[in-house]
Amino acid sequence: MSDTPPISLFEAIYSTRALRRLKPDPLPEDVLFQLLDAAIRAPSGQNAQDWRFIVVTDRDVMAKLGEWANESWSRYQPDLAEHPEKMDALPKTQRLSLRSVEYLALHLHEAPAVVVFCGRKGRHSSPGGSTFPAVQNLLLAARALGLGASIFNLPLTHAPELIETLGIPDDNQVYCLVPVGYPLDKPGPVKRKPVSKVAFRNRWGETWEHANEQPETGMEEKWLGKGE
Ligand SMILES: Cc1cc2nc3c(=O)[nH]c(=O)nc-3n(C[C@H](O)[C@H](O)[C@H](O)COP(=O)(O)O)c2cc1C
Repeated sequence: MSDTPPISLFEAIYSTRALRRLKPDPLPEDVLFQLLDAAIRAPSGQNAQDWRFIVVTDRDVMAKLGEWANESWSRYQPDLAEHPEKMDALPKTQRLSLRSVEYLALHLHEAPAVVVFCGRKGRHSSPGGSTFPAVQNLLLAARALGLGASIFNLPLTHAPELIETLGIPDDNQVYCLVPVGYPLDKPGPVKRKPVSKVAFRNRWGETWEHANEQPETGMEEKWLGKGE
């Protein structure tokens, strides 16, 4: 199915970043199936598994998704959409991230597939909690298969049209969209706040000494090696 060398779970966790620049090449059916077969292994409240996934490859629907994403990008970043050269002045991390968002907004119609994650409205006490574990499973499976993927909700500004286009019933809602394909960029370390800044010990605000003594990058070096 894939000639990507196997990677460990931790390598996948530490290197699964949002890969938004995708080649238009279609994905084989068995690859799409593997992604969804990994997604459904996730937990859901009461094991209800009432998530539903729509694997969209239809070019007419992709064209609509692309149009909505493009329009949302212009609304979300009106200045940058009109003057893309202004991105050059932004700090590097922000610039790279925004450029990739812009790229996907402008090229979504060419992506080989978008997985639409749906779930029952009001069924679970933590909305989305029974859908996002499946999203993360799919993102990790994509990483393991050498694919690029990311959550990309810009088209959801047109949620009512999307719901109508895909025939999603009234008792369901769309939680997120994940475009997936062969990536133009490489996976790599993700930039995150260190554990010591976001985890407390026993009580909110109380320092966790062991976490405080760890490097800012945590165990990244162990899983990705030096210089990654
Ligand atoms: C609930 C949720 C919604 C998101 N929506 C979008 C989105 O609409 N557009 C986008 O480009 N990225 C979206 N993302 C991806 C985040 O921007 C991305 O995961 C984050 O910036 C970290 O990026 P990295 O993993 O490449 O470091 C979303 C992520 C989550 C969890």
